[in-house]
Amino acid sequence: EKGGYDSFMLKEIAEQPRAVADTLLGRIDAEGALTLDEVRIPVPELRAVEKVVVVACGTAFHAGLIAKYAIEHWARVPCEVELASEFRYRDPILDRRSLVVAISQSGETMDTLMAVRHAREQGAKVLAICNTNGSTIPRESDAVLYTHAGPEVAVASTKAFLTQLVACYLVALYLGQSRGTTWGDEVRSVIRDLAGIPAALERVLAAVEPVRELARSLADRNTVLFLGRHVGYPVALEGALKLKELAYMHAEGFAAGELKHGPIALVERGLPVVVVVPSPRGRSVLHGKIVSNIQEIRARGARTVVIAEEGDDAVVPYADHLFRIPAVPTLLQPLVATVPLQVFACELATARGNEVDQPRNLAKSVTVE
Ligand code: M6R
Repeated sequence: EKGGYDSFMLKEIAEQPRAVADTLLGRIDAEGALTLDEVRIPVPELRAVEKVVVVACGTAFHAGLIAKYAIEHWARVPCEVELASEFRYRDPILDRRSLVVAISQSGETMDTLMAVRHAREQGAKVLAICNTNGSTIPRESDAVLYTHAGPEVAVASTKAFLTQLVACYLVALYLGQSRGTTWGDEVRSVIRDLAGIPAALERVLAAVEPVRELARSLADRNTVLFLGRHVGYPVALEGALKLKELAYMHAEGFAAGELKHGPIALVERGLPVVVVVPSPRGRSVLHGKIVSNIQEIRARGARTVVIAEEGDDAVVPYADHLFRIPAVPTLLQPLVATVPLQVFACELATARGNEVDQPRNLAKSVTVE
């Protein structure tokens, strides 16, 4: 049932190109335009939305953080992202013009379900992004966009995360299309970019062996830090979460711009720091800033592990370890940049003798508070 893989997690990592392709399937028409019939919220209501609030936990929350960039960029509507466990105890301000997006692989996470109930009581519309047909969260929501990752067995979420990202991009584009902020050729062009992601993921997967080797060499470390900017920041958080839950190591993700405001004090000789580098093409300002950050931490003795786009030569002099990812549009980069971090955590956990599919103290779906 593990299909020849040592763990369900490795199998599920390898299934990601197909999971992404399946999640796009049936949502693009013959003309390359977006058709989201499942979003049964009428277009006039989508046009009237004044704010979007994304609620989720854990890895799904990281998908939500990335969704904010896409929703604000394509739909030009303010978007907040909140941990469901915080949201529900905060008396959040919601009304009929609020759209709540609840992201959950299992559809059974208690905190997210309670956030959904609370949102609907306030009159907000709720759209669920979920991987499990007929689970509780979609049943209690106004509409649902299913991710088609297939069953995810490993406790650590991998393919569900990538498909949540795809669903978030589709929702952002659909909102943009409905509100008239992104349409026609622009939507089609993003759809084309998304359709190219499975092939890009195959290339990432074909090149992960050096990531595994590095992971094995770091098995006796206590701490790994992760840095990112823009959509790379949630990727850094996700890389750190994977390492915590699987390798039981101290791992933290930071926004690279925050380094000087504290975290740089943690850097000492030999400390592995993984840096997710934005494309040098799209947001070149951010790229330059992160290259400076890599220089700064390396000057203080960090062992830099750099995830950068193919052809990005500026990072070469400062990377102790360099892993290449295919060039994709800035907003979509998390789809390819996350995969090496999943492999890194999985391999490090294995090297430390941990059970990767069933990490200690964790359950696949958290149906209690
Ligand atoms: O089923 P859900 O997506 O609602 O689960 C949310 C989190 O419990 C989940 O993502 C958790 O953080 C994973 N173990 C992360 O790998």
